[in-house]
Amino acid sequence: MSERIIIFDTTLRDGEQSPGASLNVYEKLEIARQLAKLKVDVIEAGFPVSSPAQFEAVKKIADESEVIIAALARAKEVDIKSAYDALKNAKYPRIHTFSSTSDIHIMGKFGDSKYGATLADKRKTVLKMSYDAVAYAKTFCNDVEFSAEDAGRTDIGYLCDIIETAIEAGATTVNIPDTTGYTFPYEFGLKIADLKLRVKNIDKAVISVHCHNDLGLAVANSISAVQNGARQVECTINGIGERAGNASLEEIVMALKVRNDICNYHTDIDITEIFNSSKMVSGFTGIVVQPNKAIVGENAFAHESGIHQDGILKNKETYEIMTPESVGVNKTKIVLGRHSGRHGLKARLNELGYHPDEVEMQKVYEAFLALADKKKEVFDDDLRVLMGDEIYKEDEIYELKYLHVNAGTDLIPTATIQIKSKDKILQESSTGDGPVDAIFNAIERVLELKPTVESYNVRSVTSGRQALGEAIVRIRSGENSFTGRGTSTDIIEASAKAYLQAINQFLVFQNEAIQLQEKELVAK
Ligand code: KIV
Ligand code: ZN
Repeated sequence: MSERIIIFDTTLRDGEQSPGASLNVYEKLEIARQLAKLKVDVIEAGFPVSSPAQFEAVKKIADESEVIIAALARAKEVDIKSAYDALKNAKYPRIHTFSSTSDIHIMGKFGDSKYGATLADKRKTVLKMSYDAVAYAKTFCNDVEFSAEDAGRTDIGYLCDIIETAIEAGATTVNIPDTTGYTFPYEFGLKIADLKLRVKNIDKAVISVHCHNDLGLAVANSISAVQNGARQVECTINGIGERAGNASLEEIVMALKVRNDICNYHTDIDITEIFNSSKMVSGFTGIVVQPNKAIVGENAFAHESGIHQDGILKNKETYEIMTPESVGVNKTKIVLGRHSGRHGLKARLNELGYHPDEVEMQKVYEAFLALADKKKEVFDDDLRVLMGDEIYKEDEIYELKYLHVNAGTDLIPTATIQIKSKDKILQESSTGDGPVDAIFNAIERVLELKPTVESYNVRSVTSGRQALGEAIVRIRSGENSFTGRGTSTDIIEASAKAYLQAINQFLVFQNEAIQLQEKELVAK
């Protein structure tokens, strides 16, 4: 009989750790609802102790959840308590706590002599910390997951000890992360097989894996682990996550499904929701999916060469191992126009996975009418972009009010902008190397800020001359980067909006960091 693989989605936690990706509470809630529609088994909603916004998002998701909601916590009481406080109202709460277990991590993170004089002493300390963390988490809820961070590079003997200890303390899931994406599929599979063989209480917990993609092997490693006994896979939509990302949910699910002939496993995922989920995550995070990305990339089902096209016309199976329809790619792309009305718009948005409340619906309806005026036909992708642009953004610190640009072959590009802040309108002008540079300079001048612009991309969302243009700007401040998106049929306006949004994200982050510091000072 086919065995079920538990899909643990960490798009909202590890995925949100992707450089530049930051989601607000409303966007996270919408993604969580979409993940529930996709029928994932576990949603890791965030890391509550890390910031008030993280706490609020986990709490809001937990409050309305029908599936297991996990929250991350280091092996510290304050983290575990905060995770539980955020999860309290969840129907099925899970505390996910972790310790670093590789020698490199132990020596790096627990270098202080208070953790022990030698590596062997420090390992003992980590073992005890892990036991205590799981035991403490168990006082709040029964469902506790323990992760051995950097298990991929952890000595197998010590890994066996720590996993056995975590299970003894009550862990119901034990997660084996390849944190640095270092292992090879054969090697990682063996590690899982070894754990099954050597950990005496292993049958009391579900073995999970969590693979990063630094060598492009995350999906292969996860599947190899499944073939050797793992029954939970941690993954993200579009494979987003720290550095090169995590194992991609859609690739794992479809690999298990398409190759069911050689691996007898199944998931409960509703694969027809894969495409909508991918689009939503990409829209809200501003992380564009590469065109050749398996399953969800724009070219995943495109056949370019004559020979391939001919083959496909005669028999789809010549070059397609799965159909685009099976993963929810909607070839007909429903078209709306300005006469479609509010109800038609709302119904289509719901089908695409969005659930705007009354205020958000008013905003999207106005944006939709303005767009429909400019381009007669509004496609699904246009709607997705509208939803990812401003609809869920509330209380923006700065908002673009007015923009005028003078540019041409014999002119010095000049931009004048007006920006609305809480209680006043700010105005400035500037020149630049081109119209976009002039706008960015004017924004920097008026806000007295000069962030490093790390990347700037413009693309057309749908086809045709009136297509909606989307600009994505990533800025950096110290170790952190922030992404802003702007859309308009005018790419100059889209660029200004994107830059302002990135700056807004940075300012929100800065305010939160100050609040957190103040809280920590009061606590001391
Ligand atoms: O990559 C990792 O090790 C993690 C753990 C916290 C599970 O994200
Ligand atoms: Zn990770």
